[in-house]
Amino acid sequence: MNAVDRYTRTAILLHWAIAVMIFVNIVLGIGSGYVPDSWVRPMIDLHKSIGITVLGLVLVRLIWRLTHKPPAFPAGYRPWERRAAHGVHLALYGLILALPITGWIHDSAWSAAASHPLVLFWVIPWFRLGFITHLAPATKHDLHLWFGTIHTACSYALYALLALHIGGALKHQLIDRVPELQRMWR
Ligand code: HEM
Repeated sequence: MNAVDRYTRTAILLHWAIAVMIFVNIVLGIGSGYVPDSWVRPMIDLHKSIGITVLGLVLVRLIWRLTHKPPAFPAGYRPWERRAAHGVHLALYGLILALPITGWIHDSAWSAAASHPLVLFWVIPWFRLGFITHLAPATKHDLHLWFGTIHTACSYALYALLALHIGGALKHQLIDRVPELQRMWR
């Protein structure tokens, strides 16, 4: 396979760093409901740290995407497959942005936010969203609940899209015998 068919080193690094962090965050988000009470706060704190990091990385990735042309799809892809892949990629960008943003709003509206500062990886003090922290307590209470629900709904949509994304890649790799994974691997 020649170099033109592959994503660049930067795109590959960003793709896998974001993928691993999203996987860990799903495990932490769901897992925090099934662990002893003393584990919940550290797990959620780590979840928030990783989520904010993902937000930064996905913004870098979007800049990369808008300034680089991705490698063309292999010639054998049918038109509907190209459209489906584009659609899933677009929706994944939307969700990977929506998840950290809704989580951050949910956290900024939290009634205990003031007594639980946001410190990324227990080292870097981070800010809550000022336009939310300044709202009236009753409004924040409602926002906290709403955005918790939206955050969870986004995670369900993400599972469906990841199934399509990974299923599509495996179908091309294993059934169509097209070197698909190599496009996103050195
Ligand atoms: C990559 C980004 C993120 C992903 C993939 C993600 C995913 C998830 C998932 C799967 C859950 C469990 C939902 C459920 O089944 O109930 C969850 C919960 C949660 N997330 Fe995130 N999240 C992300 C970013 C963030 C960020 C940036 C914050 C805050 C700064 C955050 C705060 C929370 C909180 C507080 C919960 C617990 C919600 C509750 O039960 O009240 N998340 N997240």
